[in-house]
Amino acid sequence: MTAPAPLLELRDVRRSVRLPSREQLHILRGVDLTVDRGEHVAILGRSGSGKTTLLNLLGLIDRPTSGQLLFEGTDPARLSDRRRARMRGRSIGFVFQQFNLLDGRTALENVMMPLMYGTAGQFWRRESLAMEMLERVGLADRAQQKPSRLSGGEQQRVAVARALVRRPRLILADEPTGALDVTTGEAVMGLLDEIARDSEAALVTITHDLQVAALSRRSYLLDDGTLHDVESAHAREALLATSGIRSGRRAVAGGGVALEEPPTERLETPEVTS
Ligand SMILES: Nc1ncnc2c1ncn2[C@@H]1O[C@H](COP(=O)(O)OP(=O)(O)O)[C@@H](O)[C@H]1O
Ligand SMILES: [Mg+2]
Repeated sequence: MTAPAPLLELRDVRRSVRLPSREQLHILRGVDLTVDRGEHVAILGRSGSGKTTLLNLLGLIDRPTSGQLLFEGTDPARLSDRRRARMRGRSIGFVFQQFNLLDGRTALENVMMPLMYGTAGQFWRRESLAMEMLERVGLADRAQQKPSRLSGGEQQRVAVARALVRRPRLILADEPTGALDVTTGEAVMGLLDEIARDSEAALVTITHDLQVAALSRRSYLLDDGTLHDVESAHAREALLATSGIRSGRRAVAGGGVALEEPPTERLETPEVTS
């Protein structure tokens, strides 16, 4: 018998965009990455290194310009937009730096949202399933609150509940602690890691913070459009060359260096409805 395909497999994946000047910008220049079921992988990189571009490929939002990306052995680029969107909704949960909750809705309604597009069973049980997830993140008593009445850490926990409510096999987190203070960020990251492990979902965390990355089993640095093992000489040099050294933090790799990234960066929300 052949082994089951990895959850995600990228081979020589490239992504270029055309600038208004008609020049090509080569953002990803040959990314190789394998993510197995239940694994936690971190991707570090300075601002502008292509982290969000890579995450949008892993999240089946964009397609590679060239190279191969397989999700559970299937090439999503060969599927129709509709089938790819369905695959994404069923298999992938997203957590964003800015939470991206709908403010007109309660915490419970926000967590219920992905279940509107789930299976019939999930649809009919949407309220109890969402409530279970809110309990799991410790916010059962805040279910009827609007996000604007919640703290940043609580909002991100609601977003974690929303990302996990359909039991995705892959969770993609783009700077999940970027808008939180250090202590709150660590608590949210610990919770995300724990829930992902419990539900046997793979977790890919994008971060500029080595301490966040240290939670994962494998860490890579995205630099020059390719991934480098964090322990490699190239990564160590690149990490030491960055200026965002944070004092008072525990040293992880490269001596407690953090990469700078403006916390205001906004991300596009992938369409939940499609
Ligand atoms: N559609 C696009 N058109 C032009 N430039 C882009 C586009 N998408 C990303 N870029 C550029 O590519 C680089 C990498 O972007 P991004 O993936 O958002 O980096 P990161 O998330 O690491 O900050 C940046 O210089 C960004 O301005
Ligand atoms: Mg980004």
